[in-house]
Amino acid sequence: ASFYHKPARSEAFKRLSAEDVNYFKTILPSETILATPAVGGTADPAELDAFNADWLNKYRGNSQIVLRPKSTEQVAAILKYCSDNRVAVVPQGGNTGLVGGSVPVHDEVVLSLRNMSKVRSYDEISGILVCDAGCVLEELENYVAERGHVMPLDLGAKGSCHIGGNVATNAGGIKLLRYGSLHGSVLGLEVVLPDGTVLDNLSTLRKDNTGYDLKQLFIGSEGTLGVITGVSVVTPRRSEAVNVAVLGVPDYSSVQRAFKLTRQRCGEVLSAYEFWDASSMSAVLKHQDLRNPLSSEYPFYVLIETSGSNKDHDDEKLGGLLEELMEEGVVKDGALAQDDSQIARMWSMREGIPESLSKTGATYKYDISIPIPVLYDIVGDIAQRLEKANLYKPGSTSYPVRLVCGYGHIGDGNLHLNVVAERFEDKVTKIFEPYVYEWVSSHRGSISAEHGVGLMKRDYLGYSKSPSMIEYMKRIKDLFDPNHILNPYKVV
Ligand code: FAD
Ligand code: MLT
Ligand code: ZN
Repeated sequence: ASFYHKPARSEAFKRLSAEDVNYFKTILPSETILATPAVGGTADPAELDAFNADWLNKYRGNSQIVLRPKSTEQVAAILKYCSDNRVAVVPQGGNTGLVGGSVPVHDEVVLSLRNMSKVRSYDEISGILVCDAGCVLEELENYVAERGHVMPLDLGAKGSCHIGGNVATNAGGIKLLRYGSLHGSVLGLEVVLPDGTVLDNLSTLRKDNTGYDLKQLFIGSEGTLGVITGVSVVTPRRSEAVNVAVLGVPDYSSVQRAFKLTRQRCGEVLSAYEFWDASSMSAVLKHQDLRNPLSSEYPFYVLIETSGSNKDHDDEKLGGLLEELMEEGVVKDGALAQDDSQIARMWSMREGIPESLSKTGATYKYDISIPIPVLYDIVGDIAQRLEKANLYKPGSTSYPVRLVCGYGHIGDGNLHLNVVAERFEDKVTKIFEPYVYEWVSSHRGSISAEHGVGLMKRDYLGYSKSPSMIEYMKRIKDLFDPNHILNPYKVV
């Protein structure tokens, strides 16, 4: 692929043979091994496509084997063998990652956690859930919902992503504003290290200051330090009253002004404040079975959610806020969901953006955080650069780039800049790489607010991390994974 830098295969890694597959057969049930004839197995190579290609269809590996262990002991035996024999491994959860981290670059063994999907325990008093890493987020959400709780994170990929993948990427999502990051809500992890050691730190304690908090290193480590097999996470109480409103906003400064007022008036019940622009909306309305809840189109849309314990109180507060926003002209139009199905439709509008963009074309994603006042500037800036290069003309379909848009978790200072093109190609990529990263760095921002580094950003880490930070990251990698078998070519 010329549109991204694919590092050469490291010859330090063993090329798999039937001998290795035979060893895996001694530690794993045969139905959990998917190996092609190239490594002495019988699987149709097409069966491995779903494990070799990422969600964006941008990054593609060439693994000939997928292992789907059913227990922590099996994961430990696999990793010990791979580390002793220099076999490279890519841990994979739901494969919804957006930075090329979850798929092999070359012929790494795919270690899929999908067969480890049991709830281990749930304490209905404290709301502490202990489960296998391969549990699908939405299934956990349903499980805790039946017990009056919610998962402390939510994202559009919930139907496929695993809690282990969420922890490995430190996924943010649409509830971070309310419940904070996984660094706060994860209480413990069970992690298998490359030498087969099981770090059993599945704590269910809210407080534990007994030295270094090792689990924090694995939150956001993107499969480069160890394989997460178990997760202990605290789940908040489900709110009795949930309100959702979608607002039509005339300009970006009004999006910010509305955020300030929303926090002032409804801060204690505010659970989400998301925004998207007109181009994102056009893709959603084209590709989802949804109608604009507002009577006309606007440059920006904001979704506000409140979650509290007293419906009358929240209705009154949100109603008052909407009136005030309209009076001030900060908001031009607003629709308040009247029932659960309208709430779900409004959320689908926001959560359906990534899928709608992918249906529009090859999607380049930049996931940045910088101070809110200048956050959206990059969208117009990139559109102009593409126009100048004769690659894009808003509204025209005869150019390689079809759409430039911005949306995201404005409440967290996190913008998703997306460029949708006919195809991934170098002449488009070079317009915004490294330009976007330079721009973010000049504002002391992060080149990856929530999606991680993966393969996509590993060459650009220096735009957000100092040389000494990167040096210490490498030392930590050496300590946990001295043979560098885990998720090679990624992150550092
Ligand atoms: P994968 O994609 O399989 O893996 C991601 C990374 O984690 C890889 O590096 C992999 O090696 C590693 N990994 C996976 N499982 C393990 C494990 N058990 N142990 C060690 N390493 C592991 N992200 C956000 O932060 N916020 C969002 O709002 C958001 N919305 C999304 C919406 C859509 C429609 C999509 C497709 C993606 C979205 N994402 C979002 C991206 C996000 O990173 C993931 O969806 C999710 O956290 C990844 O989980 P996964 O199980 O799919 O992991
Ligand atoms: C989102 O907020 O929708 C996700 O992070 C996915 C994306 O950036 O497209
Ligand atoms: Zn996001």
